[in-house]
Amino acid sequence: MSQKIFKAMVITEEGNNQFVREIKDRNLDDLPEGDVLVNVQYSSLNYKDVLSAIGNRGVTKKYPHTPGIDAAGTVVQSLSKDFQSGDEVIVTSYDLGMNTSGGFGQYIRVPAEWVVKMPENLTPRESMIFGTAGFTAALSVFRLVDYGITPDMGRILVSGATGGVGSIAVSILAKAGYEVVAVNGVVDEKEFLLEIGAKEVISIEEATDSSGRPLLKELWAGGIDAVGGEILATTIKSTQDGGAVTCCGNVGSHDLPLNVYPFILRGVTLMGIDSQNCPMPTRLKVWNKIASDWKLERLEILTTEIPLDGLNERIDLILQRKHKGRTIVRLPD
Ligand SMILES: NC(=O)c1ccc[n+]([C@@H]2O[C@H](COP(=O)([O-])OP(=O)(O)OC[C@H]3O[C@@H](n4cnc5c(N)ncnc54)[C@H](OP(=O)(O)O)[C@@H]3O)[C@@H](O)[C@H]2O)c1
Repeated sequence: MSQKIFKAMVITEEGNNQFVREIKDRNLDDLPEGDVLVNVQYSSLNYKDVLSAIGNRGVTKKYPHTPGIDAAGTVVQSLSKDFQSGDEVIVTSYDLGMNTSGGFGQYIRVPAEWVVKMPENLTPRESMIFGTAGFTAALSVFRLVDYGITPDMGRILVSGATGGVGSIAVSILAKAGYEVVAVNGVVDEKEFLLEIGAKEVISIEEATDSSGRPLLKELWAGGIDAVGGEILATTIKSTQDGGAVTCCGNVGSHDLPLNVYPFILRGVTLMGIDSQNCPMPTRLKVWNKIASDWKLERLEILTTEIPLDGLNERIDLILQRKHKGRTIVRLPD
């Protein structure tokens, strides 16, 4: 490639735990070694990107750094026989955007094992409307279905429902025929949640029991949780006999104030969801579901598209809890 300079968001540490976000020129030679060089067309904004952008060392250890845990685009160079120049691909998870330069830049260079061929029937833009958040939502639904939770068994509670994981979980569950109850937080987004497929919307207060009782009235066949803390504990205590709840996030709390009774008296199952280390065979199955049975007809209701220089403002919206749905980032051509 003759042109080596590309545009990227760069987070720089300025001392005193201050981090600045700028769009800068970077050089391809500064990307890490790897088998596949991808020209990124779209990325997306996830909670983890926000953590990386504000200097969270649990996500990113070394700065300057280009975040972006999601990328979709076209292969421009490949040392792997599995990928050819011109292939459309998705790269999410593993170390992308954490300590490996990520999708908030026009190019990424990654190991071939991280790369997924774009499923038929999915465009790079659509794949990033899902991105890591949507993939995690789909993986959560996949686990509930695989466990045997069927739509006739009862309602499914989704927490953090206006967020990336939550809004896609609501949409996929509704598409798959489940009755969904969505938990809405600080900004009233009831109309949005009903529009994407929730049957009912409840407040955080209604979804949170602080009485300390070990078991609550059985309300849900299952749950998809991205919040943790008392909401997750309340969901588990309110899950019916034989039900299952997935847990993927901690935006509310990393604690889980609970005892063993839901598990030993109701046989409730708590399923951990780790999209980052999801094995490739399952990863491909989930992406194929996203591109087929779970392909959402009304993806645009969930989506805000921004250019690379619009990221700063959207990161602030997430920090203020004013963000909803999915933000996708269009990289310059
Ligand atoms: N394990 C995995 O593989 C995996 C993958 C992707 C994401 N995650 C995790 O999943 C979580 C959600 O990610 P996301 O990308 O969906 O984030 P997001 O778009 O920021 O959404 C989070 C949602 O949670 C709600 N929320 C925020 N703070 C809350 C609080 N204190 N109590 C209750 N609700 C709260 C917000 O809605 P309201 O303001 O309406 O309450 C927001 O809609 C994060 O912890 C993320 O790290 C994990």
